[in-house]
Amino acid sequence: MARLVEEAPQTTGQVKLADIVRDEAYGSSQIGPFDFCPKLGFREYWYPAIWAKEVGSKPIKRTLFGEEIAFFHKKDGGVAALADWCPHRGARFSRGFCEFPGTVTCPYHGYTFDETGQCVAGLVESDDSPLAPKLRARSYPTAEWGGIVFIWPGITTPVPLEEDLPHEFSDPTLTGRRFTRVKNWEANWTEPVNQGIDTHGLYLHRGVSIWRLTHKRMLFFRKAAIQTGPVKVVKESENSVNVRFGAVKYGQSTYKNVGKWPRHTWWRILPQKKGAGGGTREVSDPVKEWATHDHNLEMPSKVRIPTGTHVHLRWGVPVNEMNTIMWTFNIFKKPKGIFHAAYQYIYYYMWRKPAAVVSINEKEDLVVFSGGRLNYELPQKLGIADTGVIYFRRHLAKASRDFQRLGGAFGCYKQQPDPEKVAQWTKGRK
Ligand code: FES
Ligand SMILES: [Fe+2]
Repeated sequence: MARLVEEAPQTTGQVKLADIVRDEAYGSSQIGPFDFCPKLGFREYWYPAIWAKEVGSKPIKRTLFGEEIAFFHKKDGGVAALADWCPHRGARFSRGFCEFPGTVTCPYHGYTFDETGQCVAGLVESDDSPLAPKLRARSYPTAEWGGIVFIWPGITTPVPLEEDLPHEFSDPTLTGRRFTRVKNWEANWTEPVNQGIDTHGLYLHRGVSIWRLTHKRMLFFRKAAIQTGPVKVVKESENSVNVRFGAVKYGQSTYKNVGKWPRHTWWRILPQKKGAGGGTREVSDPVKEWATHDHNLEMPSKVRIPTGTHVHLRWGVPVNEMNTIMWTFNIFKKPKGIFHAAYQYIYYYMWRKPAAVVSINEKEDLVVFSGGRLNYELPQKLGIADTGVIYFRRHLAKASRDFQRLGGAFGCYKQQPDPEKVAQWTKGRK
């Protein structure tokens, strides 16, 4: 259950994580991106893997979590996922065929595997193959929702899919419109998460663009938010955190060592909109979580960006150490009628997608931290603007399902899973 930080006990008995994080931030934290977050992602979670409609009459390959995976149809029409490498002599299932319902046949010697990964026939050996029962490919649990095939890369028993889906997916007021963009981001999965709750927006997104010049609220011509002050944790739960800028300042400021910044603001001639910019506008309806203006991070890799109009949710799926498949969902209120629905459609495709999803996220954010432009291995120092980052790297990571079930996470630097716990979960598996 989420709780407001203000309601949490102050000092006696329990100490708030938010307070611990604040103190850590004031002391300049050295928590690293992979201390407790694995390079290839937390694994004991469901992740979106592929559109169901992409799986046709032949197997199809995707690389996820550093592993190559072949997807093909189950007997019941669902989608199965097996490790792409045939356990006979290592050919790719994804180059094979679906000769029989619910199976994949390896292209090399024709051994045929069912949706659980069990070899059920050695086509060219004999119809009573002694090898076939001994061949087993790794299978991944899958589940389908909204035309998306979700995959469970972990070694523990999957939770019900609904537990890991964003709550907006089942919110009856929001089921009307969900626009989805799936794109490879050349970056480790942790960076889009870290930047989803940090303060880069006030600097990185300060420049001129056609979309800023034509924004209906004319924000480019008003005093802009220039400082966030300390970032505060305003809400926390076992698997999520909300942060808000603590003391926003607008316009221009004087810095004792360098002078005024922004250097020039002469074009910002219109009056400042109350609370405009920087994710600081008042929540119009605080009861509705989807309308939040906080930056939100939800495990394992979802971030919600404040928009004021709808839900902008990104869910990153690790491909390998330097690539992430980014599923960006823009989820709107249920339309009131056909004209409202048309308006949402036009708004998304003519404005939201080009102006924010592409122009800001992909053309401004990504270029700063895409391959080779960010050094993940040097020591880092995090301060009071990085409160959300510290919270994620230290506390949410250690509260992850990987840590809860296995005592650590494969591939993080500081806490590997406990071998005894791993053995308990994998006991009896072939
Ligand atoms: S390598 Fe797959 S059947 Fe031989
Ligand atoms: Fe950004």
